[in-house]
Amino acid sequence: AAALFGSNLLGGKRVIITAGPTREALDPVRYLSNHSSGKMGFALARAAAEAGALTSLIAGPVSLETPPHVTRVNVESARDMLAACQERVAECDIFIACAAVADYRPANIAEQKIKKGGEQAQLELLRNPDIVATIAASEVPPFTVGFAAETQDLLAYARDKLQRKKLDMIVANDVSTKGLGFGSDDNEVTVVWDSGQQVLPRATKLALAQQIIKLIASRVSESS
Ligand code: CTP
Ligand code: CA
Repeated sequence: AAALFGSNLLGGKRVIITAGPTREALDPVRYLSNHSSGKMGFALARAAAEAGALTSLIAGPVSLETPPHVTRVNVESARDMLAACQERVAECDIFIACAAVADYRPANIAEQKIKKGGEQAQLELLRNPDIVATIAASEVPPFTVGFAAETQDLLAYARDKLQRKKLDMIVANDVSTKGLGFGSDDNEVTVVWDSGQQVLPRATKLALAQQIIKLIASRVSESS
């Protein structure tokens, strides 16, 4: 994988990567979110830039340093992340959706801190837009790559998401494996596309990112 460093596999390609969690506000001091560390998305951005791509990272709130030669845009909510992606999609060849986007947001954002009341409380939630499916459905879609985080039936759900969201490729990630995925430095994934798939055994997220970038580069050159 080190051979990728300084390669020109994605020379001149414009790549956008979403990374990290989103944060869905409830009131001025509270939000709904998840445990995504952003490490996989940041590793992909590093690998894409190393492969010569003009790389933009649309990042939810994470505490990671921006990789060299990567343009970073910080966002909070899913709707902010979608807007940041849509603003840039016309100048994008490859879109990689690595963010753990909140599927729902609170129906109302209280203007003042919510005071506690009785023993029970309900939250009303609204579905968030699907960012990667929206990008894949744009007029001139980029080569679009999604991730699928699953705890069961990994490849079946991944293939279903590939088709339903009209993606060119999906990275299937079994998040039930102990010590891997969320927060960890290592991962193990299966990259799936229409006519094939490839297992990438346990490795650091940077090593996996470099292999994923290689697979994307070869699929992009085949489809153009
Ligand atoms: N995704 C997105 N926008 C959303 C939800 C998900 O862009 N609102 C993207 C993720 O970045 C990922 C892919 O869709 O690339 C799959 O995310 P995942 O949570 O596994 O799938 P969902 O479609 O949300 O389905 P579910 O959570 O019900 O399994
Ligand atoms: Ca989801």
